[in-house]
Amino acid sequence: MEIDRRTFVAAAGALACAMCGCAGDANTVGPQAKGGEGPNLDVGTLADYPHDGATDRFAKKSEVIVIRRGDRIFAISAACTHRNCIVRNSGTNLRCPCHGSRFDYDGNVTRGPAKRPLIHFGIANDNGRLIVDKSQSYNDLSDSGSYVSVRAQPTTGATS
Ligand code: FES
Repeated sequence: MEIDRRTFVAAAGALACAMCGCAGDANTVGPQAKGGEGPNLDVGTLADYPHDGATDRFAKKSEVIVIRRGDRIFAISAACTHRNCIVRNSGTNLRCPCHGSRFDYDGNVTRGPAKRPLIHFGIANDNGRLIVDKSQSYNDLSDSGSYVSVRAQPTTGATS
């Protein structure tokens, strides 16, 4: 069976993308990125985050990384800003398995090819449950809606 050069190049490109898990071009969403189940995500209670650090246990299904630093708990997007693969917690930073981008726990790019930081989501303490609101986005922790203080009393009523 003979194949022409164009068919060979297209097949080789598709195989390369399938092996790395990336999308074919920068404008499409990578196969690991999923929309999740809705804007609000229950990520547990304050007691689930007793120490500083990050967890990626909600990353694959809901594209959320939860981080505690000091007396603040916050959530950032797990979708890499390069081509939307899901980043993972390395223990010291967030790493994208597709093309090697790295982000610090504030979502800032520390190594490309990603150029834009991971966004922060809204989060609230709703009667003791930590609820991430993915419909709200922030650039950092300067807004009180972008973090929960472990010292503050829970709010009543659900987030919008
Ligand atoms: S999708 Fe390319 S580095 Fe993350």
